[in-house]
Amino acid sequence: MPSAKSYLPFTRPSIDDATIAGVAEVLRSGWITSGPQVKAFEAKLSEYFGGRPVRAFNSGTCTMEIALRIAGIGPGHEVITTPLSWVATSNVVLAVGARPVFVDIDPATRNLDLAKIEAALTPATRAIIPVDLSGLPVDRDRLYTIAHRHKLRVIEDAAQSFGSTWRGKRIGSFGDFASFSFHANKNITTIEGGCLVLNDEPEAKLAEQYRLQGVVRSGHDGMEVELVGGKFNLTDVAARVGLGQLPHLNEFTARRRELARAYFAQFESLRAASLGLHLPIADFTHSNWHMFQVVLPEERLSLTRSEVMAKLHAEGIGAGVHYPAIHLFALYQRLGWRSGNFLHAEYAGRNILTLPLFPAMTTDDVARVATSLVTILQNAQRS
Ligand SMILES: Cc1ncc(COP(=O)(O)O)c(C=O)c1O
Repeated sequence: MPSAKSYLPFTRPSIDDATIAGVAEVLRSGWITSGPQVKAFEAKLSEYFGGRPVRAFNSGTCTMEIALRIAGIGPGHEVITTPLSWVATSNVVLAVGARPVFVDIDPATRNLDLAKIEAALTPATRAIIPVDLSGLPVDRDRLYTIAHRHKLRVIEDAAQSFGSTWRGKRIGSFGDFASFSFHANKNITTIEGGCLVLNDEPEAKLAEQYRLQGVVRSGHDGMEVELVGGKFNLTDVAARVGLGQLPHLNEFTARRRELARAYFAQFESLRAASLGLHLPIADFTHSNWHMFQVVLPEERLSLTRSEVMAKLHAEGIGAGVHYPAIHLFALYQRLGWRSGNFLHAEYAGRNILTLPLFPAMTTDDVARVATSLVTILQNAQRS
């Protein structure tokens, strides 16, 4: 538990002693790559998602690429997505040979602006990849209304929303494909890893083939390969970490919500809004509070975001950037996207800042972060 004086990172995993002991047992067991722990982890995940088929993988990137392949999406196809995400979200579209088509964000939710999707559709559009940034779910009712109306597949990039809900239903327990990441920073981790929630057993079988070199085994020695798969399997060591994390999900989410509430209370009493600091939506129903992200008011500040981060760092406070706008990366500019295409995503990409939020933090830590940030902003007001 960090004391007031220790460095406060923006996130830190909570792994209990029973999980550490469980990992040691797996290491001693003689079976350390994909095996019984992965099966057990998948079974628990499937139970969590209301019985839907689930397969575990070594990232929350390959899960989306595999979902696109299962959906038959490839060259000549377009996929609608958000420019404000980890670049994995659109890289997977390029990886299968399709074209990502970005649609600007809603500056309040910082998620895909659903009202702008229909104007971006063409006869080549096959799917939508919405992202639940910081765990705040995209409106699933509106999303699936649009998807059904235009016969589009949905690959939910729910990398950040494990534990979030939509109208009382767990994200991943309904809808089309749902892809989750268990990267070290996520609310539930396997160090690196991910899972894909699928619609039926034939899709799950295909996911298994794409996961491991396209191989299908039969009997004691039968092996067939009919498609190009990769090497995306999760290890038993990683799955054991995940099995040790799942029982803590509710407690982690509840703690994150408490800390997020504490941020709102602190920023209100410090009158941060009068300094132009843009806070996230105060959602305590759906979001798992994967991150607490503010957007700095660049037009009012004499400091850049990088300088604000340096000042926080000097006070022992870590902060992160999630994320720069994807369409402005060189790779995407080569594909024709330009500065000015998506003004809300670009503004957020330049100014968004992730403040520390993880279950082992204290409300004193929250007060320290909020006070430091507000003081930095007060001293940096342009005259
Ligand atoms: C929104 C989003 N999409 C995709 C990913 C990719 O997940 P992974 O790092 O497990 O490949 C992440 C994780 O960083 C993410 O935050």
